[in-house]
Amino acid sequence: MSQPRVSAVVLISGSGSNLQALLDTAASDLPLEIRAVISNRADAYGLERAAEACVPSRVLDHTRFPDRETFEAALAELIDGFEPELVLLAGFMRILTPEFVARYSGRMVNIHPALLPAYPGLHTHRRCLEAGDTEHGASIHFVTAEVDGGPVFLQVRVAVDEDDDADSLAARVLTQEHRLYPAAVRLLCEGRVRLHDGRVLLDGQPLAQPLQLEPAN
Ligand code: GRF
Repeated sequence: MSQPRVSAVVLISGSGSNLQALLDTAASDLPLEIRAVISNRADAYGLERAAEACVPSRVLDHTRFPDRETFEAALAELIDGFEPELVLLAGFMRILTPEFVARYSGRMVNIHPALLPAYPGLHTHRRCLEAGDTEHGASIHFVTAEVDGGPVFLQVRVAVDEDDDADSLAARVLTQEHRLYPAAVRLLCEGRVRLHDGRVLLDGQPLAQPLQLEPAN
């Protein structure tokens, strides 16, 4: 691979299957160097995935801090110690303050299991079914102070089946997330997508609508 690698730290809280997708793609053809995995939970399975891939990991337990600000100060110090270009949130279940978000503006992205702006927050699959939607999916967005509200640049769509329940729908969306996050990170690594004045530019031009990942074969 001739392209220089873009460095990143991945933040997780749980299973880390999206982390795994990034690790796997970085090991094959994504110009990404994952310098560290940071979890706010010591029991996150994603920490084992990091170890398996020989990527350093750290645990920063938010319950050991008196408030969000002191936790985030320690988190920022930990992240910055790895000098990453990108901060990738992959199932990181903490709400972030505007100050923390501003520190990584344009460099921090998140994956969310819904077609944003629909269904920010939790229980997206159940809410989608309750609304009777025929389509669901996942989105990658730059992180801003608004929870799940930053500019979206890539989505994948998943058809809702008549007999879906929240678990079956979540599983199909998650499978697509594992294609989505590496594709989004590729756009960032290649410098094709960036945030400018609060808007997404694709190849230097404003992006009117989020890009859509082709359905899997
Ligand atoms: C994913 O559904 C992601 O979209 C959401 O949290 C979940 C994390 O799953 N933000 P995993 O830890 O990557 O398996």
